[in-house]
Amino acid sequence: MRIVLGVGGGIAAYKAALLLRLFSEDGHEVTVVPTEAALRFVGAPTWEALSGRPVQTDVWSNITEVPHVRIGQEADLVVVAPTTADLLAKAAHGLAGDLLTNVLLTARCPVVLAPAMHTEMWEHAATRANVVTLRERGVTVVEPDSGRLTGADTGPGRLPEPETIHAAAMDAWRDGRASDPAPADDLDGTAVLVSTGGTREPLDPVRYLGNRSSGKQGLAIAEAAAARGGRVTLVAANLDLPVAPGIEVVRVGSALELQEQISARAADHDVVVMVAAVADFRPAEYAGSKIKKTHDPGDPDAAPTIQLVRNPDILAGLVTARGDSPSPLIVGFAAETGDASGSVLDHARDKLTRKGCDVLVVNEVGVGKTFGADDTSVHVLTRGGDDALEIGPASKRVVSEGIWDVITGALRA
Ligand code: CTP
Repeated sequence: MRIVLGVGGGIAAYKAALLLRLFSEDGHEVTVVPTEAALRFVGAPTWEALSGRPVQTDVWSNITEVPHVRIGQEADLVVVAPTTADLLAKAAHGLAGDLLTNVLLTARCPVVLAPAMHTEMWEHAATRANVVTLRERGVTVVEPDSGRLTGADTGPGRLPEPETIHAAAMDAWRDGRASDPAPADDLDGTAVLVSTGGTREPLDPVRYLGNRSSGKQGLAIAEAAAARGGRVTLVAANLDLPVAPGIEVVRVGSALELQEQISARAADHDVVVMVAAVADFRPAEYAGSKIKKTHDPGDPDAAPTIQLVRNPDILAGLVTARGDSPSPLIVGFAAETGDASGSVLDHARDKLTRKGCDVLVVNEVGVGKTFGADDTSVHVLTRGGDDALEIGPASKRVVSEGIWDVITGALRA
């Protein structure tokens, strides 16, 4: 296929050379369109040698071929890596001052932007709003990695590895999302409550029992709902990711705090989606001061025994509190593995019945996926429905869209 590789002016431009290699090795025809600024980091000869094609940055060369229209129109996929804050803003606002931004306006194929910038710029409300706008239009905006940036600073903003961008690009292409579909507004006026993250059960002032949930899936569910017009509240347990503006965020730590916030709000919402990884147990006692290594003076080598007690099942509590009312619609998530007593889907069907929720989204775990990963695949089961719908493997955002298609169907029913 014909891929346009846009390159923005950032230090990570060198990684685009490796991305270009990956596309070429797959047999694709790659046209590189760097910005003027990108050529300060990696020069035109590199791009021309690696792609085997001439590069240009402005709209004035080869004018008879009308490159500013043709390149975008003929592309099967446009990938921009790195996408600077400036390029994101231009793309969001439809500016077209150079060849790359013209290509972005004329392309009708899937568009994938891989941002790279300093954390402050990535987290700035202006950038967040631009990302939301672009995603609403169907553009895939890859989450930047966290880690060491150009200077000594660290945080989210690093360009993901070329392999990650390559996978996201292929995903977007397979998914076939046009860059400018009419935004779905099927959650317009719907109040949506989502929980995400992983709870931490305090043991003493410095320690807790926690889990490895990153909160990415719940965040993607919340952002997809907001993009479809929903009024979204996100109850976030220990979430360390920026949240799109327009989503109300309630931060919590432990399972009991999560329960308090969710149960106080559930009745005012049309849908509750419980994505959070809630600890089933918590330490029976919280030690008000730090537990010392030698906590027993009579036996300096003794290790303490930590007694656990059950946490409430928040999801089951919502079902009970709802009683016979059809509202709110209750959606659960479950991480399952198959075992001798049944397959993943057997266990999932049991859990759907046991918990009494309306929709259950099931992740198969145990193959290095799910926790912290960007891609996922799920089965979605509905109460009364015979079949499980499989969605993915795809990005958590794409999977979220599929989950909302099922939920909006259930809401209408
Ligand atoms: N959940 C909850 N309260 C808990 C534990 C889980 O509300 N104390 C919710 C999660 O947010 C998720 C769903 O229940 O939506 C599934 O959780 P899971 O831990 O898989 O289910 P369990 O009933 O704990 O079953 P298992 O025995 O497989 O752990």
